[in-house]
Amino acid sequence: LQHLLSIEGLPKRILNDILDTAENFVGVAEREVKKVPLLRGKTVCNIFFENSTRTRTTFEIAAKRLSADVLNLNVSTSSQSKGETILDTVNNLIAMHADMFVVRHQQSGAAHFIAQHVPPHISVINAGDGRHAHPTQGLLDVFTIRKYKPEMHNLRVAIVGDVLHSRVARSEIHALTTLGVPEIRVIAPRTLLPTDVEKLGVQVFHNMEQGLKDVDVVMMLRLQNERMSGALLPSSQEFFQTFGLTPERLALARPDAIVMHPGPMNRGVEIDSAVADGKQSVILPQVTYGIAVRMAVMAILGGGNAA
Ligand code: CP
Repeated sequence: LQHLLSIEGLPKRILNDILDTAENFVGVAEREVKKVPLLRGKTVCNIFFENSTRTRTTFEIAAKRLSADVLNLNVSTSSQSKGETILDTVNNLIAMHADMFVVRHQQSGAAHFIAQHVPPHISVINAGDGRHAHPTQGLLDVFTIRKYKPEMHNLRVAIVGDVLHSRVARSEIHALTTLGVPEIRVIAPRTLLPTDVEKLGVQVFHNMEQGLKDVDVVMMLRLQNERMSGALLPSSQEFFQTFGLTPERLALARPDAIVMHPGPMNRGVEIDSAVADGKQSVILPQVTYGIAVRMAVMAILGGGNAA
């Protein structure tokens, strides 16, 4: 495996290799072990054309705990503003002996484009491209599910909210499907679902009360206002009334159901604070496990020790 650009098409064997490798890094993510030397001498370059809190910082922490050097390109103050192309920027960083690029971009396909133009010793990781894919988020989500609900082949998972604009939802659906989760539900208004949603192999619900019934996992999504045209934009209040996850609605899921959210959360829009901070929430463990999963991806790509 040279790059990680999407979960779609990745065989189950590789997904499991990544998740099993991540298992070995949980102790490092939780600071029981300080760091490991697997990427000593390598340079990881974070290039984020779109804002991020969790993904950029956990990639940085993960790379440092693998003993890599980390270079964070500040795109807003870089020579991109003077008209330099994305490939010229990347080629200059390769001239500085960068080994791995972690790329987030508002355009779908940006990480693929870079991957097509780098030499074979360089790896590219997609850290989110437009509404297309966010593979490490999908991986950390299934890793978190596996930690809390190891019997993946028995699970009923509901993904709730703005599926249409969500790269996270697409990556999660591909990962859950490949790993054999038998029932994946999406719950959303018609305007926030892709027209080809049925092709994703999911069950579609437009009603929270029906969709949440007896699920084991509830994954909430943020309304991606920045990717919507005005006509489709529901008001925050309207959305919360119909699709917000409240304690009363969560009570329809199985009593031991877990609640997930990739972040950033909009409290009072898609999720009530009583749920986000409640005992069924695993939203912050998702972040910690994200370090382990990103360490695994970089170790595999950088060391060639899997797939
Ligand atoms: N989940 C996620 O991608 O969060 P950030 O946008 O903060 O990186």
